[in-house]
Amino acid sequence: MKLPLRWTKNTLIFGGIAAWGLLLVSCVSVNRSVMAPPSVPGAKFVGTKACAECHETVTTGFHDATHAKLTADGGNGQDIGCEACHGPGSIHVKSGGGAGSIVNPGNSPETCFQCHLDKRGEFSLPSTHPVASGKMSCSDCHSPHTGEAVNETNTGMSTLNSSCLKCHTSQGGPYVFEHEASREGCMSCHSPHGSVNPKMLKARNANLCLQCHFQEQTSAGVILIGGRDHASFLSRGTCWSGGCHEAVHGSHVSSSLRF
Ligand code: HEC
Ligand code: HEC
Ligand code: HEC
Ligand code: HEC
Ligand code: HEC
Ligand code: HEC
Ligand code: HEC
Repeated sequence: MKLPLRWTKNTLIFGGIAAWGLLLVSCVSVNRSVMAPPSVPGAKFVGTKACAECHETVTTGFHDATHAKLTADGGNGQDIGCEACHGPGSIHVKSGGGAGSIVNPGNSPETCFQCHLDKRGEFSLPSTHPVASGKMSCSDCHSPHTGEAVNETNTGMSTLNSSCLKCHTSQGGPYVFEHEASREGCMSCHSPHGSVNPKMLKARNANLCLQCHFQEQTSAGVILIGGRDHASFLSRGTCWSGGCHEAVHGSHVSSSLRF
């Protein structure tokens, strides 16, 4: 049995098979049309070619998409590219695109969780992007329809229209003193799916910075980082708090990213 999915923005998300039973029972009297589960009842897989007739642009661009490679097992196995995420499409096709006849995973990440199980956990961590609540969708950062679903080159600072900077414009600068770390990508310090640390940081303390800035102990009581003794600084808090390197993304005034 498939996990239940949400297919309209107004329906609640139910988390498991048991909840699916509950959903069926509790909603029947309310509105049957919003009941269509992800695997649309009674619908059969028709294959990607069938979608081309009406969604030509999406289908044409799909040939090099990560998910275009998915196929179904079994004697009747055919490519289920589009339908892996949208559910079997026969009813949708027959009805010429009737409302509620197909799943749109843009409305809920449940479709994606079905195959990417670990992502449900990552998006439940204390600091995360608001995907579970439906304010954002996986497709804000991943391209479902064309090219690589993860495009590593578009998450760094060098590309202006990078997927992070289209929403977080201020972290992209331009700065007088930029922090070269961001050239390697926002992911050198952030886990965009979620983290136990605030601000989705990969580490909550100096270890975040010491990934790249090595500390050297030259003599007792002296800890050199970037050529300066940090022994007394390290006890004050994180590297980016309390007037040390608050402008961690870049600065207009301070070459040592103080503010
Ligand atoms: C006979 C024409 C036709 C065919 C074939 C067709 N669609 Fe559609 N589809 C439509 C129309 C019309 C709409 C509604 C208008 C729109 O959003 O473009 C639609 C909407 C959609 C939506 C958005 C639904 C929503 O609620 O947001 C998805 C997803 C979709 N189609 C996927 C598919 C897939 C996958 C296939 C192949 C299995 C397919 N379509 C085949 C006509 C068609
Ligand atoms: C990896 C999962 C995935 C696959 C595979 C996939 N789609 Fe989608 N589709 C999505 C997501 C996610 C959205 C919502 C897009 C958004 O929110 O921007 C979407 C939206 C749509 C829509 C609604 C219009 C729109 O662009 O928002 C149509 C139509 C559609 N897909 C057709 C297709 C067709 C045709 C194929 C196969 C050629 C396909 N999809 C394959 C995930 C997928
Ligand atoms: C039917 C199962 C299925 C569904 C549904 C599905 N995926 Fe995937 N996805 C896969 C498979 C299989 C791969 C290839 C894994 C690999 O190559 O390691 C993949 C690859 C990916 C990758 C690239 C992983 C990499 O390491 O390059 C991303 C990102 C991704 N999917 C996101 C999504 C999103 C977002 C959705 C929902 C819109 C989604 N997937 C829905 C099965 C699925
Ligand atoms: C805020 C942007 C963002 C959102 C939202 C997002 N991702 Fe990602 N995702 C990324 C980035 C960036 C990477 C590459 C990670 C890296 O290079 O360290 C990635 C990598 C992945 C990968 C491949 C590597 C891995 O971690 O397994 C998969 C699969 C994936 N994402 C699935 C999803 C799914 C499913 C959703 C929605 C539930 C989602 N992502 C939402 C930014 C995002
Ligand atoms: C579609 C818009 C969008 C994209 C793309 C996006 N984000 Fe976000 N980001 C948000 C929203 C919305 C929040 C939540 C803000 C809040 O809760 O106040 C957020 C929160 C954050 C936070 C935590 C901020 C805080 O104050 O706790 C960090 C860090 C972050 N995003 C990094 C990234 C990175 C890195 C990427 C690229 C992989 C990315 N974002 C892509 C919209 C986006
Ligand atoms: C060198 C590590 C590092 C890199 C690289 C980095 N960040 Fe951050 N980011 C941080 C730290 C540390 C904080 C927490 C700052 C605080 O709490 O005052 C933060 C906070 C944030 C916030 C929350 C708002 C704020 O400014 O405090 C957002 C949004 C954000 N980062 C986005 C991004 C984006 C987008 C990129 C890539 C362009 C990026 N970060 C690259 C370390 C980094
Ligand atoms: C991905 C690697 C990377 C990470 C992680 C990183 N940095 Fe950097 N940082 C660099 C590089 C590269 C430079 C430029 C070369 C240099 O000065 O070492 C730099 C320069 C700096 C400078 C300017 C040094 C100067 O005086 O010119 C400061 C300050 C700094 N980083 C602080 C931090 C802090 C604080 C953190 C943790 C929040 C951090 N860095 C995390 C790579 C990184």
